Amino acid sequence: MNDKDSRKKVYNDEAEEQRLLRQFDIISSQYALATRIDPNKRYVQYPESLRMIGDPGGAVILDIGCANGTFTRMMRCAGAGEIIGFDPSENELTDARNEEAERPLGIRYVSDYSQIPTGKRFDLVTVIMVFPAVTSRQLEEIFTRSSKFLKMEGKLVAVTLNPDFSRFGEVVNGRIFSRRADGRIGIDFLDDGGKKYMSIIDTYFSMTDVERAARKAGFANVRWEALKIDPAGIEKYGTDYWAGYEEDCPYIGFVASRG
Ligand SMILES: C[S@@+](CC[C@H](N)C(=O)[O-])C[C@H]1O[C@@H](n2cnc3c(N)ncnc32)[C@H](O)[C@@H]1O
Repeated sequence: MNDKDSRKKVYNDEAEEQRLLRQFDIISSQYALATRIDPNKRYVQYPESLRMIGDPGGAVILDIGCANGTFTRMMRCAGAGEIIGFDPSENELTDARNEEAERPLGIRYVSDYSQIPTGKRFDLVTVIMVFPAVTSRQLEEIFTRSSKFLKMEGKLVAVTLNPDFSRFGEVVNGRIFSRRADGRIGIDFLDDGGKKYMSIIDTYFSMTDVERAARKAGFANVRWEALKIDPAGIEKYGTDYWAGYEEDCPYIGFVASRG
């Protein structure tokens, strides 16, 4: 994947927004499984998101695209103050609210930005694996909303598909990525026995696409961060399993601030 990809098309209409949203509504229970067993989420995306956040002690956080709230809860357990999780998928939010009812952490979940109190400002906005789940218009909206919701000195932390990733068509740590002729990215999720339990079709964004949307919304400082494997993941799966992962990582971090 790179910015010069001639096959790249941008799907940016209402039908595609509906398809993307329906996709997560339909697979909510498989996605909940992925948040528990997928090595990429457990040992790369989540711990590296926490690292990029730094000490969340007392921070007021908006978790955009929180799905079933697995990472939202992790931030709370790591010491975050007030947290609001936002996701437009009602099925995902049902899972998040059920978990909150069973094991309360004081997290509020909303399915519409209008449910966030007027004038509320956040220290941090997290957007973990949400860019690939939206259209270009929605990507811009995420940055515009984040810019509005963040305190002046606040920051946005994201994890997304790495546009430079290259190992398509092979098993990469529990996933098979495919580069579709229509420009989107297909992902099959495999369990530890190699059995497929979920498939999704994601949007491809170049680094330029993301940076442009961020800057347009007023984020003056943006940086990309290579992601590392959590030592617990190396202990669980062994070094051979992760060979070449950090050198050609499917995921990448993105941090943005306005000041
Ligand atoms: C791959 S999941 C990531 C969930 C969670 N952040 C995590 O990493 O476990 C993407 C989520 O983005 C949500 N989503 C879809 N469209 C969105 C939008 N326009 N704004 C915010 N979130 C959206 C989906 O419903 C889905 O729950």
